Amino acid sequence: MNSLPTYGANAAPPAIEVRGLLKRYGPAIVHEDLDFEVRHGEVISLVGGSGAGKTTLVRQILGLESPTAGTIRVLGQDLSKLSERDARLIRARSGMLFQRGALFSAMSVFDNIAQPIRELGHVPPDLLHDLVMLKIEMVGLSTRHAQKMPAALSGGMIKRVGIARAIALEPELLFLDEPTAGLDPQASEEFVELIAGLRRALDLTVVMVTHDLDTMTSLSTRVAVLADRKVIVNAPLEQVACVDHPFIQEYFLGARGRRALQALPAHRRAQLPEAAMEPVPADIAR
Ligand SMILES: Nc1ncnc2c1ncn2[C@@H]1O[C@H](COP(=O)(O)OP(=O)(O)O)[C@@H](O)[C@H]1O
Ligand SMILES: [Mg+2]
Repeated sequence: MNSLPTYGANAAPPAIEVRGLLKRYGPAIVHEDLDFEVRHGEVISLVGGSGAGKTTLVRQILGLESPTAGTIRVLGQDLSKLSERDARLIRARSGMLFQRGALFSAMSVFDNIAQPIRELGHVPPDLLHDLVMLKIEMVGLSTRHAQKMPAALSGGMIKRVGIARAIALEPELLFLDEPTAGLDPQASEEFVELIAGLRRALDLTVVMVTHDLDTMTSLSTRVAVLADRKVIVNAPLEQVACVDHPFIQEYFLGARGRRALQALPAHRRAQLPEAAMEPVPADIAR
């Protein structure tokens, strides 16, 4: 039997398609029977407890880590069947902002952003200069910061430079691992606006690991929950909140979760479970 998935005549294959994923480290099983799908143009928030396997899933989709079993297709291509060269090409179509070490601390802002472009091979200096300055502008920074070192930048600016580097090659897919962790609410909100703007400008598909409910509510088309080694649901936030699972109940129906859910527009709020509409204590800070 042919078990390849089929798509409607006009439907493009998903941007990302993970089927039957198994990931083991020695005796420890991180993912088992995991399915995950992302369509073009989506912004998926990936949530789950600490150690649930969010970063490991992203690293496998990026080809930085191999699955123990199962298939991962990115932009229509099965990662396990790619030549070294094609794997590099696929990676160049993805940008990534890692959780830690967003920048090389010994390199200037300019060199950090230039690095993925330089890796492609020789690019004339004038062109490289223009490409990097354009990226600095695209992430809302002034080009006068180009020669600064990361240590001289604020947390919010470092994230912006990290995004500039992630979009240096104008990727189709953008992966963000806890991008607003450690940012104050103001910087988080600005970051959300930046991502929303870049998504429109570059027609990006985004997968974002995040704990930040406000970021999730304002940006994502769907929320994927990683628990029990699987993606247990991947749906609009209001539908996720209806799923009867201990992690979901605790995370989305606790006070912070309820505050985020209650900020949804009325037509989405109408689909929430009753428990989500319970009043939020006034002292719950952002
Ligand atoms: N290279 C590795 N070797 C062994 N265990 C690992 C490795 N990477 C991750 N793990 C384990 O896999 C599990 C999931 O980790 P991770 O994907 O980082 O979780 P999350 O990002 O959801 O917090 C954890 O138990 C972690 O210890
Ligand atoms: Mg992680």
